[in-house]
Amino acid sequence: MRIGILGAGGMADALGTQWARAGHEVMVSGRDPHRARERAATMTAQAQAQGQARVRVGADGVRAGTFAEAAGFGEVVVVAVRAAGLLDTLRAAGAALRGKPLIDVTNAPGPDAYDPTRPLARLIADVTGGHVVKAFNLCHVDVWRMTPPVFGGRLLAVPLCGDAPEAVAAARTLVADLGCTPVSGGGLERATLLEATAAFVIGLWFGGADAQAILPPLASSGAHQPG
Ligand SMILES: NC(=O)c1ccc[n+]([C@@H]2O[C@H](COP(=O)([O-])OP(=O)(O)OC[C@H]3O[C@@H](n4cnc5c(N)ncnc54)[C@H](OP(=O)(O)O)[C@@H]3O)[C@@H](O)[C@H]2O)c1
Repeated sequence: MRIGILGAGGMADALGTQWARAGHEVMVSGRDPHRARERAATMTAQAQAQGQARVRVGADGVRAGTFAEAAGFGEVVVVAVRAAGLLDTLRAAGAALRGKPLIDVTNAPGPDAYDPTRPLARLIADVTGGHVVKAFNLCHVDVWRMTPPVFGGRLLAVPLCGDAPEAVAAARTLVADLGCTPVSGGGLERATLLEATAAFVIGLWFGGADAQAILPPLASSGAHQPG
């Protein structure tokens, strides 16, 4: 799959390196072309060093470009920029985003800054006309560098919220390529809840609480057993 990433920061690095290692073609992008090229070179080196012998990182390695180039390059485009730069980034990415699967990993800048009346995923969908799937926003960037993320012997599950079946299917593939388990979180309207969950658990973590410990296992979830 060709994956364009809007962003060349930590999340672009962590996720993009894993996907390059899994055999996808990846392009990162940022405001500063030099910094984006440096990021792409580091990602290529990491993907090649850690990839299994059978995995071939594309001949050109991870590519770097402008936001518009990454938007045009990707069959799937990942939105991985700071919320402060979101609108400018989407405008710079331009019309190529219309109708494409867009994986939105963004969060509010801090747990107290989340505004439930202005969900980021909905903003991205409205501005771009893309098929947005919210994903990967619940865990710290270092979790996305783990191969695979396993905690207490359990593979990490990654909730996905999106409406378009093809976009959700692409997101499921990208989750599985990290060695994680995709979990259907419902339609795009539920992305607000996913963003609120991130704000809530990040607030707990900032306070030193073990957010994982607040929820019981499925067997103790009352009457809500799987059908
Ligand atoms: N870090 C985490 O643990 C984590 C976890 C889950 C979700 N997220 C979310 O993922 C997104 C990316 O996070 P990150 O950790 O990759 O951030 P980061 O390392 O700081 O990278 C930020 C990226 O955003 C771009 N950007 C565009 N406009 C910007 C502006 N006005 N101000 C700041 N940056 C701007 C930067 O471009 P340049 O390259 O040109 O600087 C850079 O590529 C954020 O929405 C964040 O909330 C982060």
